[in-house]
Amino acid sequence: MAAIINLEIAVIVSVIKFCPWIGNNSSINDCTMKSTAHFKGHPIHPILVSFPIAFFSGSFIFDCAGWLTGKDELWRTGYWLQIAGIGFALLAAIPGIIDYYFTVPPKSTAKKRATKHALLNTSMIILFASIWFYRQNESPSPYIIIGIEFIGLILLSIAGWMGGTLVFRNQIGVDPRYAGAGKWKEEYFKEPGGNIKVAATDELKPNQMKLLHINNKRIVLARTENNYVAFDDRCTHRGGSLAGGSMICGTVQCPWHGSQFDVNSGEVKAGPAKEKINIYSVNEVDGKVFLNI
Ligand code: FES
Repeated sequence: MAAIINLEIAVIVSVIKFCPWIGNNSSINDCTMKSTAHFKGHPIHPILVSFPIAFFSGSFIFDCAGWLTGKDELWRTGYWLQIAGIGFALLAAIPGIIDYYFTVPPKSTAKKRATKHALLNTSMIILFASIWFYRQNESPSPYIIIGIEFIGLILLSIAGWMGGTLVFRNQIGVDPRYAGAGKWKEEYFKEPGGNIKVAATDELKPNQMKLLHINNKRIVLARTENNYVAFDDRCTHRGGSLAGGSMICGTVQCPWHGSQFDVNSGEVKAGPAKEKINIYSVNEVDGKVFLNI
């Protein structure tokens, strides 16, 4: 199972690296947007999901109309809309999977929500695909077709509700450009650990942060008014990404429920979080910033 998941991740990473329409500069190593699968700064998954929603809803409406009026052409329209819905749902799933692995903070409530969102959508696609197969019969029952489509639409609505929560509450794909913080910065490193050069000293402005991916760890590099600091990109309350929050006067605030942490000591300055965050040693040498991990 682990091998299959690793293979899946490797394929997705290859797609990101070699598709010129994904990400700025076509490289996962220098992302400048909070969504990994984006086109010129716009996350692709929320753009594509409107198509299967429209096609599946249209399929249900035309099938109901075909059943009520007995007109074959309405049934046929519902049939083709269903095919379009399945195709676009599979297409929308690709950037969704990329963001699930690379953007949604691990070990967080958002990850659990995103997992349920994915499972509901997968079940919904299976339902619509099985109905499409069922329609190949000589005289399929309209009650079965419309009934299963209705269940599929309920699953789609719940999944859409969760998708909205992932964006509007968990801020997945939201570019956090609060005043003075500059553009979103994120970088992947191949080194497993040690003393790693993570930035040039003038790369970040005061109060700006950069998300570092090192050996499956997410670490925030931040520049305060006085120095560079580094800490875990995981709020100890419910796993919010601190890199997506705001920082001022040596305090970082989580974007989800407002917990505040001292970036030099990791101590909690304001709840609801109760546990401190991990901090890491950072030093500046010859115009370069090194992280010791
Ligand atoms: S996740 Fe709740 S305050 Fe950070």
